[in-house]
Amino acid sequence: MNNYSINSLEQYFKIYRKSIRKPKKFWGEIAENNFTWYQKWDKVVEFDMQKAEFEWYKNAKLNITKNCIDRHLANKGDKTAIIFEPNNPEEPSKYITYNELYKEVSALSNVLRDQGVKKGDRVCIYLPMIPELAYGMLACARIGAIHSVVFAGFSSNALSTRINDSECKLVITSDGGYRGAKTINLKGIVDEALTKSPSVERVLVVKRTDAEIDMQSGRDLWLQPLIDESETTSKAEIIDAEDPLFILYTSGSTGKPKGMVHTTAGYMVFTAYTFKNVFNYNTDDVFWCTADIGWVTGHSYTIYGPLLNGATTLMFEGTPSYPTYSRFWEVIQKHKVNQFYTAPTAIRSLAKERIEFVQNFKLDTLKVIGSVGEPINEEAWHWYNDHVGNKKCPLVDTWWQTETGGIVISAIPFVTPTKPTYASLPFPGIKPVLMDELRNEIEVNQKIGNLCIEYPWPGIARTIWRDHQRYIDTYFTKFPGKYFSGDGALRDEVGYYRITGRVDDVIIVSGHNLGTAPIEDAINEHQAVAESAVVGFPHDIKGNALYGFVVLKEVGLWRDRNNLIKEINQLISDQIGPIAKLAKIQFVTGLPKTRSGKIMRRILRKIAEGEKSEFGDITTLVNPEIVEEISRESL
Ligand code: PRX
Repeated sequence: MNNYSINSLEQYFKIYRKSIRKPKKFWGEIAENNFTWYQKWDKVVEFDMQKAEFEWYKNAKLNITKNCIDRHLANKGDKTAIIFEPNNPEEPSKYITYNELYKEVSALSNVLRDQGVKKGDRVCIYLPMIPELAYGMLACARIGAIHSVVFAGFSSNALSTRINDSECKLVITSDGGYRGAKTINLKGIVDEALTKSPSVERVLVVKRTDAEIDMQSGRDLWLQPLIDESETTSKAEIIDAEDPLFILYTSGSTGKPKGMVHTTAGYMVFTAYTFKNVFNYNTDDVFWCTADIGWVTGHSYTIYGPLLNGATTLMFEGTPSYPTYSRFWEVIQKHKVNQFYTAPTAIRSLAKERIEFVQNFKLDTLKVIGSVGEPINEEAWHWYNDHVGNKKCPLVDTWWQTETGGIVISAIPFVTPTKPTYASLPFPGIKPVLMDELRNEIEVNQKIGNLCIEYPWPGIARTIWRDHQRYIDTYFTKFPGKYFSGDGALRDEVGYYRITGRVDDVIIVSGHNLGTAPIEDAINEHQAVAESAVVGFPHDIKGNALYGFVVLKEVGLWRDRNNLIKEINQLISDQIGPIAKLAKIQFVTGLPKTRSGKIMRRILRKIAEGEKSEFGDITTLVNPEIVEEISRESL
């Protein structure tokens, strides 16, 4: 990035002030000086916060893969773009140069074209963390197809719902995937999903595990032979700044996942600029973000942000605990990683193991360490800072969301001092505000409010796929004129933000967003269940775990409670995935409800947290007596 690099605190404030006073000039100059365009924009931004309409770099033409790959070839063709570290440490790592990446992406883009995929078509990618996942995303972007990556831990039902919502024409998957000691039968899951997904005409299958799989003739093709026959150059389509780049599903407060749509130019500028500055990336550094590419963190900071900067990015197929709890540290040592970006859940799970697991490794190449996905508690912060960062690496606690496209609040390493549990200061261009329930701005410090953002930034999602009204209702209605994040936060006396957690019905378990509604829908499918309510409660490792309150239809009929619990969790696993299983299930005779029939979750949350008597005002309940009963029998 050639301008607006943030190298001192004074410079941060100067750049920040400019970005807020003259956002068009600021984002215009960054776009002008750092990217390749077929055609420049007429206007930097045009927007309407009420209607949730945003157009960044209006009428500009570009191709993001030209920026991620082609423009690096002249000087960095032999530089490693992607290091692939397999699940099994015995298997050799792969080093994919920018030249090779160009060829792989070109060949795959030609395969997609041959299979009839056109600009604007949706392609679902359901793959483990292998290089083909990166090639698939970039190949779509090369031809203007919209990728929809679905996390490979999701069940066939969840996959099918997502494929159907965006009517994907083609699926890229693999015969299977390795994750720790497990082998996952991905193709089998796809086959099952496709019995309910008629839009899919073609399935391209990557060979990874050599598992025996069914290939449906006329629909399924092995990818490699097609790649072998393809040209290794490919024309990059001319894409409009506001053409969608990808759809990525996130949980919401209704059963249907929200297909967040990100478009091309704004997302590119935002992920590139945040990557460079939040991680202080320098030429030849090796950057590692451990997130699965099925989540936005992997999209923005394993793939797009690093490649836009011509960086070396590491893709890891495995888990932090396989074959030992040293796996992360071993990988850092092996590849001399300079920036390491992970989730508090991973840190907490590793911090509870013997310290030798980390101490036996040389982590002195690390310069910056990062955290994302959920609030990082003080104990985890210190362990990470002391034992991984060796007290010399700034720990950037980065707050952002699928919807924001990139990091919006974070410390800048070597510039802004870090403070445990505080995400700290807004990134240039971001104007956070805290709002109270009466829609007044909270000006005082240390008071928790609803975290909103006042002015659009280039990376903001543009809509929910084919449901713009839901986009407006979810994010732009509660606090008119502002983007509402759904998170609570407070601000300290120097202006640092601390994220306190979700204020809506989304619960973050091990860094994964889970809406309560889809889980309740799954529970209610059980023939014994009349209704249910799911809330979160604090968990040492996962941050939160799930507590289900379940009302049975005919209590007497269901004596085998343990079996019932198993069946309910199996349903959740089938509908959503194992990540959404309940840690505790309490059978109750009723749920606390208001006169309008709304479940009062506030009370259930308190009960799940272990509260026995202080429930606040329960006079508005139609059945206040139930509170006593539920709390007496709580688990
Ligand atoms: O509650 C916040 C939490 O994760 C949510 C966004 O989840 P998702 O869209 O899956 O994106 C995750 C990765 C960007 C937020 O609404 N969250 C994310 N980062 C932090 C965080 N909570 C506290 N501190 C963070 N650094």
